[in-house]
Amino acid sequence: MIIRASEDGRLKDILEKAGLWQAMPCGGLGQCGRCRVRAVNGDLPLTEADRDMLGASEAAAGYRLACQAKVTRGMLLELPEEASDFYIPGTVSSGHEKGPEGGAFSIAVDLGTTTLCLARVMDGVVTGDYRVLNRQRSYGADVMSRIHAAMSGHGEALRRLVCEDILAGIKALGGDAGELPERIVIAGNTTMMRLLAGEDVAGLAAWPFDPGDLSLKQLKAGELLLGAEGPLAQVPVTLFPGIGPFLGADLTAALYGSCFDCDEAPGILLDLGTNAEMAIGKKGRILAASASAGPAFEGGRIRCGTGSIPGAVCDVRYEYGLMRYETIGHMRPAGICGSGLIACMDAMRRAGYMDKAGLLKASLGGNLKLAPALEISQADIREFQKAKAAVRAGLDCLIGAFNEPLQNPRLILCGGFGLGTAAAKAERIGLIPSGLKCRQMANGVISGLTRYLKYPDDAAVTRLAGSVSALELAGQPDFAQAYLEAMNFG
Ligand code: FES
Repeated sequence: MIIRASEDGRLKDILEKAGLWQAMPCGGLGQCGRCRVRAVNGDLPLTEADRDMLGASEAAAGYRLACQAKVTRGMLLELPEEASDFYIPGTVSSGHEKGPEGGAFSIAVDLGTTTLCLARVMDGVVTGDYRVLNRQRSYGADVMSRIHAAMSGHGEALRRLVCEDILAGIKALGGDAGELPERIVIAGNTTMMRLLAGEDVAGLAAWPFDPGDLSLKQLKAGELLLGAEGPLAQVPVTLFPGIGPFLGADLTAALYGSCFDCDEAPGILLDLGTNAEMAIGKKGRILAASASAGPAFEGGRIRCGTGSIPGAVCDVRYEYGLMRYETIGHMRPAGICGSGLIACMDAMRRAGYMDKAGLLKASLGGNLKLAPALEISQADIREFQKAKAAVRAGLDCLIGAFNEPLQNPRLILCGGFGLGTAAAKAERIGLIPSGLKCRQMANGVISGLTRYLKYPDDAAVTRLAGSVSALELAGQPDFAQAYLEAMNFG
């Protein structure tokens, strides 16, 4: 895509003004090299970060880091052909169960760090959804970058972005008639929930982390969503309760959706997101932890990574000597999302393209080409290995700390697993332990919110959140050893 930048200023601001929200995984610090653009005519002065991150030939060809560049004269710029790193307008999908004819609907919002998903819910049935990449990604891929951005004076901008995206989703799901939902219910991690509410996030920046008020809240849309006006401002909004600084309302929702505390036999729940949240428990006792896996499972810090949006590669198989892939919505590949990465690592192992330690075969020259403009590099594999090791070590420590006999426990897989990845692949690469009875929940958060919309029991949800004890993984003596062991594939 070629665009004209006709005014002077920071390129990042110019792109955003034009509605082009570029993912900036390192928070625009010039440290990840993911925001390359190319000056087609005119000159963008080379910056220190360009010199560090780009090769001499790339720099000579006019490539620059958008987060660092300053436009001083009108010029033409080329943005990446595959627009995975740029803002992609939200898409509505209606390939769901058919709900009741006509009638009122509500909206469930899964407020993800990478992707926002809004579901249209009628009488406990999801009848359509709207997905969009979270434009806050232009302030960094993970919650820590967002926290630092908010503390550096961008809190209002972060809030406005997410409010605009939620309002766009509500409008899209309301259809041509502009119908309004009768209720909205929202869950996300603690940082996302606080940013949405315009609350201070400084307590989440450093130990001893203070998550603030995590209780369930009932508001009106006009009190929460900047830009909600007219009748929409009067729509009731429920904010799900959180559990702790890094165990958010999204985990509460996933636990609620899976009826996690209904069973007498222990089970495990794993929600792979930017922060991997995991719980082990049964009726009356739940232990949960959060492993800072980094954003790899949501496509962050992976060169061709993206969220679970249409066009994202969500499954990869090695068949008849070839690597084959599937994309969400069977569209042209726009990047690879978490489930695609898990499947890709498994397929690369099966194909012999990579050894147990994660080293790519020398003959591949450091990259495996999956599709035009979609490659997996050695650096991507290393990023994935760190994420995988953090999750697996977390699971092992959690199971150890629970300290109760487990007999073929059920494992409920949500998040990055939800779109197409078989649990067997995750097991083969050593992401999850073997011998578990796996069940996939396409979107645990939406399932929990949908259950709540059907049976809005504030006391039950609050009780569930309050019954979860948090395990601090960093303080577990076995964590470091488990992490090292989990770096290997299978
Ligand atoms: S280098 Fe520009 S966002 Fe990371």
